[in-house]
Amino acid sequence: MQSITIQAPDDWHLHFRDGSFLIETVAATARCFKRAIVMPNLTPPITTVEMAQEYKNRILQAVPDNADFDPLMTLYLTNATTSKTIIEAKEAGIKAIKYYPAGATTNSDSAVKQIESLYPVLQTMSDEGILLLIHGEVTHHDVDIFDREAMFIETVLNKIVQSFPDLKIVLEHITTKDAVEFVSQSGKNIAATITPQHLLLNRNDLLVGGIRPHNYCLPVLKRNTHQIALQQAVASGSSKFFLGTDSAPHEQYKKESSCGCAGCYSAWSALELYAQVFEDLDALDKLEGFASFYGADFYGFKRNEGKVRLIKEDWQVPKSITLPNGNPITPFFAGETLSWKVKE
Ligand code: DOR
Ligand code: ZN
Repeated sequence: MQSITIQAPDDWHLHFRDGSFLIETVAATARCFKRAIVMPNLTPPITTVEMAQEYKNRILQAVPDNADFDPLMTLYLTNATTSKTIIEAKEAGIKAIKYYPAGATTNSDSAVKQIESLYPVLQTMSDEGILLLIHGEVTHHDVDIFDREAMFIETVLNKIVQSFPDLKIVLEHITTKDAVEFVSQSGKNIAATITPQHLLLNRNDLLVGGIRPHNYCLPVLKRNTHQIALQQAVASGSSKFFLGTDSAPHEQYKKESSCGCAGCYSAWSALELYAQVFEDLDALDKLEGFASFYGADFYGFKRNEGKVRLIKEDWQVPKSITLPNGNPITPFFAGETLSWKVKE
């Protein structure tokens, strides 16, 4: 196949950051995605409708003139979130709330310590049709980092799903066979996003032959049997699995450090990398559903109008990108040659 044209896609999970990052990150996403679910883990986190509206305005100011892009805002769940916040969010058109277990990842210190104490808030979300987006990892020191997702499903998510059978939940950036099975076997109100890195890589790509900090993200890459389960999930064409890049930029010096940040900045190449994955799985015909239909359907949005065309053409992902603040950032797959390219 030399080209593929799909309905314009959306990114159902990403991080734009703020301030001088926005000129770079918003343009990189708006080059091919029409909408994106914007993560609220800024410092301080986006916890109120007012903060979300101000953040949205800053994002919109960074959208290039020739682009048509709609940021979909989220709020950050904390132990101080109330049902009133949920009602206000709904009235302001906010569709989803992000639940980070405290300490799970970048800027999650102020996140949820006891999800049970927020059950009244989850009930309001369920009643109002607001989605719960979950970073599904336990954070106890005694649980091995490779087991944290499976343990979260067993000890936390199961209870939430049983307590709120109608609550719409997206288990974000899933990394394990356990998560694929859980989502597949759950009701139609449970779905998952999958990143390019978790489809393309496994933990050997992080640790063999030297530590590769630009492949480090959370949840961390798992063993190849889990990678294969994720590939099978997307190749199956199940509408429960859809595109969420988790593009998560950190300046180079923060990644290449003795305590490096988690996150892959994939916006420059994500759609092309997904195309590569689907082609390698002999499932290119399933790319459009994954990238452009299932997420919108699950969120209850109209599918996009317009098309995006990918052509077979070798190109090289830049080795480095300079942020407007002058600092370099290393994109995901930096310097690699990709064989699919979004036609501008
Ligand atoms: O790798 C990650 N980076 N995982 C997350 O959940 C957060 C993200 C970030 O904000 O950098
Ligand atoms: Zn994320």
